Amino acid sequence: MSTAFAQDQSQRHETRSCATSLVCERCERSYPMSEPVFSCPDCGRNLDIEFDYELAAVRLQQLPVAERPMNIWRFEELLPIMDAAAQARVGQHSGFTPLIKADRLGQALGLRNLYLKDDSTSRPSLSYKDRVVSMSVARLLELGKREIGCVSTGNVGTAVAALAAKAGVPAYVFYPNRLEHTKALACRALGAKVCQVDGNYDEANKQCRAVALASGLEFANITLRPFYAEGAKTMPFEIVEQLGWNAPDHIITAAAGGTLSSRIHKGLVELERVGLVSTSDVRLHIAQPDGCAPIASAILAQDADIHACRPTTIAHSLAIGAPGDGHLVIDAVRGRGGTAGRASDEEIFAGVDLLAATEGVLTEPAGGTTIAVLRKLAEAQAFDPDEVVVAIITGNGLKTIEDHPAKPWPSMVSCDAETMRSMLDELQQESAAGASLG
Ligand SMILES: Cc1ncc(COP(=O)(O)O)c(C=O)c1O
Ligand SMILES: [Zn+2]
Repeated sequence: MSTAFAQDQSQRHETRSCATSLVCERCERSYPMSEPVFSCPDCGRNLDIEFDYELAAVRLQQLPVAERPMNIWRFEELLPIMDAAAQARVGQHSGFTPLIKADRLGQALGLRNLYLKDDSTSRPSLSYKDRVVSMSVARLLELGKREIGCVSTGNVGTAVAALAAKAGVPAYVFYPNRLEHTKALACRALGAKVCQVDGNYDEANKQCRAVALASGLEFANITLRPFYAEGAKTMPFEIVEQLGWNAPDHIITAAAGGTLSSRIHKGLVELERVGLVSTSDVRLHIAQPDGCAPIASAILAQDADIHACRPTTIAHSLAIGAPGDGHLVIDAVRGRGGTAGRASDEEIFAGVDLLAATEGVLTEPAGGTTIAVLRKLAEAQAFDPDEVVVAIITGNGLKTIEDHPAKPWPSMVSCDAETMRSMLDELQQESAAGASLG
C-alpha cells in the first residue's frame, strides 16, 4: 500500500463508491483499491475495476437522483474514487453535456428519433476526454501525488492541462509528431509543459510507459488507466437518464484506443445490474477512419484478432494503430449485435459539414467519422426509421479548424452600404446555388 494512501485513509471522508478491487482482465488476480498498480504484476495485462453491485443498488436507492450533483460524479457508487476530498477537487463542472434531438440531421438520414450526445461542449476542454481525465486526476490526488503526465493524440493533452491546472498540479504532455497545432498551443496556454516526440502515437505511448516506470511520474492514460477508463461510463449513464431512463436502440461512437466504446458497454451492463433499466437490447456501433481502422476492420472481417496498423488519417485524435482496449470493443460490439464502419478523409469532412449544416454543431474529424459511418449505416438500412439512435459527438471542431479543407477567406470590401449591399447579393446567390446543389 502506498504510504500517502495509508496516511490519508485515517483522516479522509469516503465517497459512496462501491468499487471493491482491481482485477486482471486475463488471469483474474485481484488487487486492493489502495494498491498503486495499473497492469497485472503477474501477467502484464490491463486491470479492470470491480464493484459490489448489490451494495450499489442499495446506495443508489438511498439518495434521490434529484439531490445528486449534475456532473460526472452523479452516480459515484459506480465510479472508482473513494476519497471525497480528492473527488471534490476535480470534474465538478464536467459531464452532463446536452442530449440534442437532431431533427434536421435525422430528416437527412431518414431517422425520426436521432439524438446527438454533444461532448463537443464538454467542460473544461471541449472533448469527451474531460470525463476520463477527471477520474485520473482524482486518483492522482487520492494517491497523494503532485504531478501528472500523459501521452496524447490531442484531446487527452488539453484535458490534462486544464484539469491539472484547476487541481493545482503541474502537467507534462507528450505529443506524437503530426500534432494538431491548436491543441498543443492550448496545452501551453493552460500552463502545461509540452514535449513533441518524433514518432507516432503508438511509438510515443510505448516510450512513455518506460518513462513513467523510470521516473515515477503518474501518467493519466498509462499508470492511472484503470481509473481513467471508468470515467467513460458516465456517458451511457447520462444518455439513459436524459432519455427519461430509457435505453436507446443504438449508440454509435468513434473509437481509437477503444476506452470509450468498451466502457459504454460496461456502463450499460451496470445500469441493468443495479436494477435501474434494462439495457441488453442496446446495439453498439463504432466508427473509425479508413487510414486507421484496426478495430473496425477486425469486426467487419469477423476476425478475433486485431492487426495493428500505421495510421494515416486526418482524424489525428483517432490515430491509434495498436488500440489497448480493442479486444474489449470487439467483444462489446459483437455481444450487442452491433457493427462497425470506416470512412475516408473526404467522407469524414463531409460528415463534419453535414452535422454543421443541419444541427449547427461544429465537430472535429473524430465526430465527422461518427457522422460519416452513421450516414452509411442509415443508407444500408441498419436502423428502423423509428428506432432511437444516439450518435456521440466526442470533440469540438474549433480545435481542428486548421485541418478543415479551406473555405476561401472572406473577401474584404470597402466599408460603405452600397458595396456591402452588392456583396450581400453575391453571397445570397452563392447560398441559393449551394441549397439547390444540396
Ligand atoms: C475526439 C475523440 N473522439 C474519440 C476518441 C476515441 O476514444 P477512445 O480512445 O476511448 O476509443 C478520442 C481519443 O482517442 C478523441 O479525442
Ligand atoms: Zn494477470
